[in-house]
Amino acid sequence: MAGGRRAAGLALGWGCCLLLCCAAASKLEVSTPAVVEVEIGDTARIECNFYIPGNGSYSYIDWFYVDRKETATPQTNSRVRLCHVTHSEVLKDSTEYKERLSVGEDKALSISKVTVQDDRTFVCQVGAGSSGVGESHTELHVYKVPETPVIEPNTGGISVHNSDNSQIAKCESKNSFPPANITWHKNGEQLDLQENQMRYSRTRESSGLHSVSSILFDTVTREDRDSHYHCTVHYWLRGQRHALESQKVQITVFYPAEHLKLQVVPSSALVKEGDNVKLVCESDGNPPPVFSFYKRGLDDKWKELSSLAETDSGVLTLHGVNKSSSGLYRCESLDLDDMTQLEKEVELVVNYIEDVHVEMEPSSPLREGGSVTLSCDAHSPVALDYQWTDEKGRKMGVGNQLFLSNLTFETPNNLSCKVVAPSVPGLEQSKQVSLAVEGKPRIVAISSPLYVRQDEVVNLTCKAIAFPRPSVHWSVNGTAHEYVDNQHIASNLTVRVSRDLLKAGAMCRFSNKMGVSEKHIQLLVESVRKDQKTAAESQGVIIVAIIVAILVVAVLGAVIYFLHKKGKIPCGRAGKQDITRPEARKDKIVVEVKSDKLPEEAGLLQGANGEKRPAADQSEKYIDLRN
Ligand SMILES: *[C@@H]1O[C@H](CO)[C@@H](O)[C@H](O)[C@H]1NC(C)=O
Ligand SMILES: *[C@@H]1O[C@H](CO)[C@@H](O)[C@H](O)[C@H]1NC(C)=O
Ligand SMILES: *[C@@H]1O[C@H](CO)[C@@H](O)[C@H](O)[C@H]1NC(C)=O
Ligand SMILES: *[C@@H]1O[C@H](CO)[C@@H](O)[C@H](O)[C@H]1NC(C)=O
Ligand SMILES: *[C@@H]1O[C@H](CO)[C@@H](O)[C@H](O)[C@H]1NC(C)=O
Ligand SMILES: *[C@@H]1O[C@H](CO)[C@@H](O)[C@H](O)[C@H]1NC(C)=O
Ligand SMILES: *[C@@H]1O[C@H](CO)[C@@H](O)[C@H](O)[C@H]1NC(C)=O
Ligand SMILES: *[C@@H]1O[C@H](CO)[C@@H](O)[C@H](O)[C@H]1NC(C)=O
Repeated sequence: MAGGRRAAGLALGWGCCLLLCCAAASKLEVSTPAVVEVEIGDTARIECNFYIPGNGSYSYIDWFYVDRKETATPQTNSRVRLCHVTHSEVLKDSTEYKERLSVGEDKALSISKVTVQDDRTFVCQVGAGSSGVGESHTELHVYKVPETPVIEPNTGGISVHNSDNSQIAKCESKNSFPPANITWHKNGEQLDLQENQMRYSRTRESSGLHSVSSILFDTVTREDRDSHYHCTVHYWLRGQRHALESQKVQITVFYPAEHLKLQVVPSSALVKEGDNVKLVCESDGNPPPVFSFYKRGLDDKWKELSSLAETDSGVLTLHGVNKSSSGLYRCESLDLDDMTQLEKEVELVVNYIEDVHVEMEPSSPLREGGSVTLSCDAHSPVALDYQWTDEKGRKMGVGNQLFLSNLTFETPNNLSCKVVAPSVPGLEQSKQVSLAVEGKPRIVAISSPLYVRQDEVVNLTCKAIAFPRPSVHWSVNGTAHEYVDNQHIASNLTVRVSRDLLKAGAMCRFSNKMGVSEKHIQLLVESVRKDQKTAAESQGVIIVAIIVAILVVAVLGAVIYFLHKKGKIPCGRAGKQDITRPEARKDKIVVEVKSDKLPEEAGLLQGANGEKRPAADQSEKYIDLRN
């Protein structure tokens, strides 16, 4: 109401001013704005304009305020004079305004540090001798914009069962002048409230400003769990309505569960043995009800499982499920607010593969060159695929049968049947079988021919493949070591090379119940090969020697020719021979030392640094023993 009046007054004031400025009146006219608005603490300025007919001048200007109590009956004596202005001076009366007021050149009244008490009517009175006295009133409106309202929702939570209004939220806006109004809004729409739904209160602070607060009471529904509430504070300023909104808040709404949902996580079709499975029970009630879990036993009785469950969150975790975990599960919820009970059931299917077994046909010991059929079988509620792999994981076949022919020792002797359920990712089982192919030992590597030196200590090596494990026999005495790797067996015989051994060589023999195999190791004296090499080397030396000899002959020829020319040496055949012979003999000696080296010497020389034998020699002497 008050604000509306102010707005109207303001509009009227502007109208008056317009009239005064433009009309040439014949009597004294005084004008001031009808309303002046000023914020508390600021300076209010009220201008006073006047028109005196006939070029006259004012004799005085008086400013008054009207005491609020008397405003109802406008009487001049309820006025209090603030100051008396003449051409020469400004006389301030001793009022509460004495310190705060001032009059400007244009006779405008200024009041500094405006307070709540200054919200009153001021009068400008002009006296102009013969033109008489005129005056004009101005309402000084003091205002203070309210602080943004602060909203506090009910934190306790409200049940939808409450039929009475419950406190939803409280809103407060401090320090406004004049007091502001508060409205309530839900989801952006203003609430049309009954009188008993809002409790408005207003306090006057010591500063004279007003703080307003409002409490909203209402009933709630399930949907209000998502509702946003806010309050708005409204105030007038310069004839216009302004508003400030609080934050939006939500309240906790308690409502009973209407539906229950029970799920297997991960989805039931894919659960396999060994998985960790969660049964998740969800209710749409708030607060969540108390959950209980049950499983139907073989006797159709429900057995409680709640000890395994987090009953607060409604999750039942089954660790490492197996076939016997399959079955019907039930979740029950109990709402402690209204004691309503809901239940839901779900079937858990645990997929599995069991009883994986492999049959061999024939089942009797397998022979080299024979064949075998392997059959793999397993139990599962889902369709299965079969794969065969060797011990290194290489695929050997698919399907539940595997036929192997021409069996050898090399046939992988550990095979796996892998059973896979394609419809259940990760579900697989496997079974290993041993295929022992029996056969006569087969010698796969020997160290022959072996280049040795007499009296040297060497290893004679034989390697064979066989099953059952063969025994090894050497034809010569020595220290034997055996190394077994699956069906491979290698034997090293450490012996000293004697003349007999060199002559006869050695035999290694492997024997098992399937038969006997033997091989001869030939020993050769290393220098045989060495001679071939030195022959090649000496050829090179001979060529060098011949070149040197030719050069020497050429030089000698030149010297002889020179001496012959000088006449110092007589030209004769005997002299020539004498000189050349020693040179030729020297060459011959060099060649002979090389070529005449005894085999024994070469062997000894080589024996001292046996490791220096070229790698190519090694590979020639030994068959690759790695197989
Ligand atoms: C007003 O006074 C001025 C001098 O102050 C004079 O010039 C003028 O004529 C006067 N006008 C009237 C209407 O008396
Ligand atoms: C405050 O409420 C009163 C009474 O309903 C009304 O007259 C006034 O205009 C309102 N003020 C604002 C700023 O809305
Ligand atoms: C299945 O799991 C349960 C509980 O984990 C266990 O008691 C039972 O022996 C298991 N059954 C089989 C066949 O492994
Ligand atoms: C198996 O041996 C037979 C006869 O010896 C031969 O014809 C066949 O090719 C061999 N099969 C394989 C897979 O080696
Ligand atoms: C084959 O399996 C047996 C026992 O299962 C094992 O001792 C042996 O080392 C395996 N052989 C290979 C080559 O993996
Ligand atoms: C057996 O003797 C050969 C030849 O001397 C040698 O290379 C090999 O390392 C020996 N084997 C073992 C296992 O010592
Ligand atoms: C000969 O064999 C033995 C035993 O197998 C081994 O310890 C030794 O290192 C071998 N000697 C040579 C020269 O390879
Ligand atoms: C091997 O040694 C035994 C005794 O240690 C001996 O009787 C036998 O004659 C030796 N054989 C050879 C071929 O040297």
